[in-house]
Amino acid sequence: RRKVIIDTDPGLGEPGSDIDDGLAIALAIRAPELEVLGLTIVNGNVTLSTGVHVARNLVDRLGVTDLPVLAGADAPLTRDMASVRALFDAVPGHGGPRDPGELRGPTAESDAADWMIEQAERYPGEITVLAIGPMTNLAVAIRRSPAFAANVREFVLMAGSATTYAQNITVVGDFNAYVDPEALDVVLRSGGRITMVGLDQTSRVLLTRDDADQMLASVDPFSKWVGECTHAWIDYLARAFPKRAEHEFGCFLHDPLVIAAHLDPGICQWDTAHVEVELISDLARGLVVADRGLSLTVPAPSNATVAVDTDVDAFRRLFLDRIALTPAPDP
Ligand code: BDR
Ligand code: CA
Repeated sequence: RRKVIIDTDPGLGEPGSDIDDGLAIALAIRAPELEVLGLTIVNGNVTLSTGVHVARNLVDRLGVTDLPVLAGADAPLTRDMASVRALFDAVPGHGGPRDPGELRGPTAESDAADWMIEQAERYPGEITVLAIGPMTNLAVAIRRSPAFAANVREFVLMAGSATTYAQNITVVGDFNAYVDPEALDVVLRSGGRITMVGLDQTSRVLLTRDDADQMLASVDPFSKWVGECTHAWIDYLARAFPKRAEHEFGCFLHDPLVIAAHLDPGICQWDTAHVEVELISDLARGLVVADRGLSLTVPAPSNATVAVDTDVDAFRRLFLDRIALTPAPDP
């Protein structure tokens, strides 16, 4: 089984918080091909403490009792998070901080970045880091340990876009790149092996109200709960993005596509690119530019493999078979 660490900012089950990290975690934990070594939590969709809470409850719901959940960065490297949170808070129905008294499930004391460094030293060249939140924890680990990037087999990033603008938190920024562009920059310059699945691809894969209804009818309590959360999240998105036709009937499965493309690289088509992120301009901060050599200028050497097309049906089959419609696994 392939060893992975999932670096994530999960909100599944929290009012007005993105459910896709949680679905990605569930897909990875239930994948027999993968050995999930741990979940490292980062500030992002939710605060660090809420992310830890959500992750612990999630692994508890999935029946996993011994999976480490490690707290990492509680803020971006330099960006003031308050201005990002203000964008969420403007939408009615966004949740507040969690009561830590409700915590369940496993945890671990070590800091997420130190733990990732230790794991990569223990299994050099074997671990893939599936990074589905802002890249702060990865950047901290890369800065702390000169050997970290080389010891990691691959960083698979949900960030940016390789074929068009990424439009969700801003007109040019996907959430993960926009929240901590300096951290993404550290990762892109690390010399590590990088695969990027951007918002241009992940916005093609939707979980619909029809899918949610099927989940509600499942015998698997986890699928039933996901069905409820999916309807609530689509309700929220319809309020937050009134001009996005997709949210009349569905929500994007950004992060699960990253897991699925790692399980089966044939789900996406790939190209090499020189990828950079804009750090300075007010207009374009967080814009990821992937130079695939399609213009008249000569690109700098490639630093990433980027997804440029997606087999949506193949993804949906894999995701729905494994998460939405499966009966509960035998205890
Ligand atoms: C990314 O931001 C979050 O909302 C999603 O979980 C995904 O990781 C998409 O821009
Ligand atoms: Ca995410």
